[in-house]
Amino acid sequence: MKCESNPTEVRDPIIAVVGLGYVGAPLALALAGHFEVIGFDRDSKRIQELQSGFDTHTQEHFTPPNSLHYSNAREDLKKASVFIIAVPTPILSDKTPDLTHLQQASQIVGSVLKKDDLIVYESTTYPFCTRHYCAKILQKTSKLVLDRDFFVGYSPERINPGDTRHTLRTITKLIAASTPHALQRIQAVYGRVVDSLHIAPSIEIAEMAKLIENAQRDLNIAFVNEVAMMCDKLGLSASEVLEAARSKWNFLPFSPGLVGGHCISVDPYYLSYILEMCAYKPKVLSMGRLVNEQMPAFLARKIHTLTLDSKLAAHKSRVLLLGLSFKENCRDMRNSKTPILRKKLKKRGFRVKVYDPLIDGREAERMFGFKPLKSLEGKKFDIIVLLNAHKEFLSLNLREYANPTHIIFDIKNALPYATHRL
Ligand SMILES: NC(=O)c1ccc[n+]([C@@H]2O[C@H](COP(=O)([O-])OP(=O)(O)OC[C@H]3O[C@@H](n4cnc5c(N)ncnc54)[C@H](O)[C@@H]3O)[C@@H](O)[C@H]2O)c1
Repeated sequence: MKCESNPTEVRDPIIAVVGLGYVGAPLALALAGHFEVIGFDRDSKRIQELQSGFDTHTQEHFTPPNSLHYSNAREDLKKASVFIIAVPTPILSDKTPDLTHLQQASQIVGSVLKKDDLIVYESTTYPFCTRHYCAKILQKTSKLVLDRDFFVGYSPERINPGDTRHTLRTITKLIAASTPHALQRIQAVYGRVVDSLHIAPSIEIAEMAKLIENAQRDLNIAFVNEVAMMCDKLGLSASEVLEAARSKWNFLPFSPGLVGGHCISVDPYYLSYILEMCAYKPKVLSMGRLVNEQMPAFLARKIHTLTLDSKLAAHKSRVLLLGLSFKENCRDMRNSKTPILRKKLKKRGFRVKVYDPLIDGREAERMFGFKPLKSLEGKKFDIIVLLNAHKEFLSLNLREYANPTHIIFDIKNALPYATHRL
C-alpha cells in the first residue's frame, strides 16, 4: 500500500538511533529536527567526531542541534521509547550472514527495554531475521514479551551514498510492523522526515523486498559484466554493443564494472542463506554473484592482453588503478574489489599503484595492507585504468600522468581520450 506520510502520534517519543554509520548518523540528524534523539554508537571515536560536528563519512561539518544527544553510554538509552537499529550486517568468510552486530545491538536495547517500547530495525537482513532472531534476543534480554510488552518494526534503508538526488527525504520509505498500532507509531516517526511511505503487509515482506532490490541490481550488473566478457571473446567492443542496445526504449542502461560495497555484493548472500535453510539453492542469484566475483580476474587478463598488444612488457609496466572506494563519488571502501585486481596484476608482474583522492589513506592501509598514492604529482605510468568515474578523475587530464607509449583503459566509458574501453 502506497501512502503519503501522515503523522498520527499524539505524544512525541524520545528516539534512540543505535549505530551511527552511513545510515544511522544522517537519520539521527534528520529525526532531531522533529524529536528528541539519542544518537548511540559503541565506537567512542565516532561519538566524539559527531559531537564535534564533523562526519568523516560525508566529510561534512554540521551543527548538532540541541535535540540530538550523542552517546556511547547504555544508560542514556533508558530515556528512549522508540529504538531504530542501524548496525552493519556483513558476511563471514564463508559468505554466510554475520549477525554479530545485530545480536549485540539487540542485547543492548533489550537490556534497557520497557513496556510499550518500539524497536525498528533498519539493518539489511533476511526474511524472518527481525522476528525470529532479533526479537527473540530482545525478549530474552528484557524478559518482556513481543506484541504484548514491546513491538518491532522493519524499515530498510535505501540511501545511496554519493547520490545527491535520492535523499532520505525523497526516497520512499518502506515500513512494516508486528502490530497495526506499532505500524501507526512507525508511520508517525518516519512521516516527519520522509515525503512518502510504503507500508508492507508484514516485516518479512519488507525484509525480502530490500534484499531483492539489491539482488536485482547485482544481477543487472552481472549481465552487462558477462556481456563484456562475451564481447571480449568475440573481439567486439562491449561499450559499442551496449551503446547500440541502449538505443532500444526498454534496454536497461547498466554498465559493467567491479561490484563491491556492503550492499549489492553482500545482500544476495543473505537471501541465499535463508533459502538454503529452506532446502532451496537460488540459481540466477548465485550465477550473478559468480560473474561479478570474476570481474577482477577478467580485468587483470584483459589488461595483460592489452599490454602485449601495445608492445609494453608486463614486468616493466607501471600501472595506475584509479578508484579504491567501492563506487564512484563515495569514500566507502568496504568490499572494494580494487585490491583484488591490484593483487592479480602484481602476480602477473605489473608494478601497480592505486590512487583515490576521496578515501582515507591510513584507513586503506589498515583495511588492505598497502599504501595508496597520496597524489599523482610528478608521476608517470604506462597503463592507467579508470575503475571509478569519480568527478575528480573526470576533471583531470590523465594523459599528463602517462608515458609517451601508454594505455588509458576506461572501464566506465567516461573518458573521451581513453585508448581502450571494455
Ligand atoms: N551505507 C549504505 O549506503 C546502506 C544503504 C542501505 C542499507 N544499508 C544497511 O544499513 C545497515 C548499516 O549500514 P552502515 O553502512 O550505516 O554501517 P556502518 O558500518 O557505516 O555503521 C554502523 C555503525 O554501527 C556501529 N555499531 C556496530 N555495532 C554496534 C552496536 N552493537 N551498538 C552500537 N553501535 C554499533 C558502528 O560502530 C558503526 O558506527 C547495514 O545493514 C547496511 O547493509 C546501508
